[in-house]
Amino acid sequence: MSEELRVREGRSRSLAQALEGHLTEWSERTGTTVEIWALPAGEVPAAITKAVMATLGEALTNVERHSGARVVAVAVTLGPSGLRMTVSDNGVGFFGRAEGRGVTAMHAHFDQVGGTLSVNGVPGEGTTVSGVVPRQD
Ligand SMILES: Nc1ncnc2c1ncn2[C@@H]1O[C@H](COP(=O)(O)OP(=O)(O)OP(=O)(O)O)[C@@H](O)[C@H]1O
Ligand SMILES: [Mg+2]
Repeated sequence: MSEELRVREGRSRSLAQALEGHLTEWSERTGTTVEIWALPAGEVPAAITKAVMATLGEALTNVERHSGARVVAVAVTLGPSGLRMTVSDNGVGFFGRAEGRGVTAMHAHFDQVGGTLSVNGVPGEGTTVSGVVPRQD
């Protein structure tokens, strides 16, 4: 896509591009299929971009290390209510609460930009990380 077209479409070069680049590289390195369901159109403040990328990094590290998943689906959208991020894998999941440095860090990243996050595992089904940063205006 040309830069001109990208600008006309109002697509956020920074976050959408960063997501696409990171996901492509990670998928190639790990051999795990990544389905990109949605990328954010529009500008995203730098602090939120940082929080989303850092959280994605932790989530993908967990997919690689713990899940055994073949597929991970990623959606990051910008809507009237704010930014939403979902990272969902079809791996082993887990029972109960996920409590480690990585999950704590993901919560802290979203907390820092006024958002909230949850990490849900379903044994035998997979794990979903969901984060929301409400619109602040
Ligand atoms: N995608 C996933 N699939 C399966 N289990 C997961 C997944 N994500 C998290 N978990 C479970 O939740 C636990 C906590 O995750 P967390 O990232 O906090 O710690 P960790 O990955 O064990 O270590 P680190 O501090 O290096 O991140 C994991 O040890 C694992 O049992
Ligand atoms: Mg981890």
